[in-house]
Amino acid sequence: MKLALRWHVLLIGFVLGTSGAFAAVRPASSTSAAPLAQRPGHAGIASANALATEAGFEVLAKGGNAFDAAVAVASTLSVVEPESSGIGGGFMATMHLAADNRNVFIDAREAAPAAVNPKDYLNPDGTPNRDTALKGPLSAGIPGEPAGLVWIARHYGKLPLAVSLAPAIRTARDGFKPDVRLLGAIQDEQKNLERWPASAAIFLPGGKPPAAGELWRDPEQARTLALLAQYGDSGFYSGETAQKLVDAVRAAGGNWSLQDLASYRVKERLPITVDYRGYKIITAPPPSSGGVAIAEILNILSGFDLDHLDQAHRVHLVIEAMRRAFRDHNDYLGDPDFVKMPLDMLLSPYYADGLRQTILPDKATPSSMLAPSNGQDPGMHTTHFSIIDADGNMVAITSTVNYILGSTFVAQGTGVLLNDEMDDFALVPNKPNVYGLLGSKANAPEPGKRMLSSMSPSIVIGPDRTAVIGSPGGSTIITQVLEGILAFIDGGDAHQVAAKKRFHHQYQPDVVSVEPGAFDPKTSQALTRMGYTLKEREPWGFMNVVIWDRRSNKLDAASDPRRPDGLGKVQ
Ligand code: DON
Repeated sequence: MKLALRWHVLLIGFVLGTSGAFAAVRPASSTSAAPLAQRPGHAGIASANALATEAGFEVLAKGGNAFDAAVAVASTLSVVEPESSGIGGGFMATMHLAADNRNVFIDAREAAPAAVNPKDYLNPDGTPNRDTALKGPLSAGIPGEPAGLVWIARHYGKLPLAVSLAPAIRTARDGFKPDVRLLGAIQDEQKNLERWPASAAIFLPGGKPPAAGELWRDPEQARTLALLAQYGDSGFYSGETAQKLVDAVRAAGGNWSLQDLASYRVKERLPITVDYRGYKIITAPPPSSGGVAIAEILNILSGFDLDHLDQAHRVHLVIEAMRRAFRDHNDYLGDPDFVKMPLDMLLSPYYADGLRQTILPDKATPSSMLAPSNGQDPGMHTTHFSIIDADGNMVAITSTVNYILGSTFVAQGTGVLLNDEMDDFALVPNKPNVYGLLGSKANAPEPGKRMLSSMSPSIVIGPDRTAVIGSPGGSTIITQVLEGILAFIDGGDAHQVAAKKRFHHQYQPDVVSVEPGAFDPKTSQALTRMGYTLKEREPWGFMNVVIWDRRSNKLDAASDPRRPDGLGKVQ
């Protein structure tokens, strides 16, 4: 029924085209007559932690390329920013290979173990059990990050894996001073960390969170990384580490097997590409919902002349496009190896034309009128980094253990903090996950299936400028990256793109989350008159952006000014 209704909308759009009263396709932005640079000749890296950015430059200085640097940045983040990502989690990478002008997408997303049992995520009275979904070993999917790092080094890097992992191993072994975010995360999660002896041993030395300014070490993670460096995949997915992971998970009530680890595979997928006003956006396909939603929103917006609207009307159209894309997200999307998705429809400009016709010029569409599908703190646990190297290779990686410090469960003897990515499945149909996202059968847990993600690592190639962009933020990743892309297309530099104030709508709850200062009072009043419920919210992501201006051949890197610990650097 729902599907039929949508085809109806599609058909109306097809018949009416884009000739709505306020619909006009904008031309591509300016092109310059000056010759465009073919390679930058220097490199830019922006990540959530200065030690990680420096690790990337260290590996570039050893003769590595952007892909080797990505391995160094990701593995160092596993050590210095464990609240956000790590070798117990997974990542998604959108990459551009300069030599053969090719884009690839690496899916190193976690997978459900074969013994996954939906009943484990229900209380005896049938209500969702939020503890098993978010804490302890049942909340953890089989990690993809170690395999993803091995894959990138082997297929795209120039240096041996051991060289690219060396900065992370050194930092874990010799120690570093945790930043305020890590210290805060450990304090916030102290009660949960105390539940698992191996977690407490690492994160609560002497029974309490480390003090600011103290050196903190993780020798067990250093050893696990060293085994990965020496043996590649088999250093993690079989042998000593695998046995310890499975033993620890099972002893604490989890259900992993050695086979789950041995059968984990990285998947290369075709990225989603969408053309918008002369820019090509290369972004994440399923099992991320991010690329589909960003494409759908841009396709809807491409029929409006946003430049000539006041802020309230411009924001109105963007929110309505977000609302429609998130409705589809909830209903259709999941792991492409398990579910059939109407991607041709969702990505079709005609479908967008139809959706555009359902947007009223001056009035919010209540989500309840669109069809079915609760918002929470978007958090800032997950991490994104962007790299462009001297040859023009580009890497956008969003990496996660999901919620703050993942499952808070460290597998004894490994230093591996496991993710709590199982909550990204629709564990209980139509009950919100930690980001308020609802889901259907398409994203129900099944053995070996990958849970739907919002991660949207993206590369935007314009007529004369290119951006590598992404952010953490749970469901708000999609809208933050979208707004970053729009700010870039509007001519913003890396700092302006990362600093741009943000807003978010995800269909349900039918509320616009607004960063304080995003709208002037006049715009807020106009939006309220149109029928929107505006709600101020903090925090907002951690965007890391590198931009290459091919006219001036300058790189520009910026880390989100909302956070003190990131570093965007060009050298
Ligand atoms: O894959 C996802 O969509 C989530 N696990 C990402 C979580 C996230 O961004 C957390 N906080 N900022």
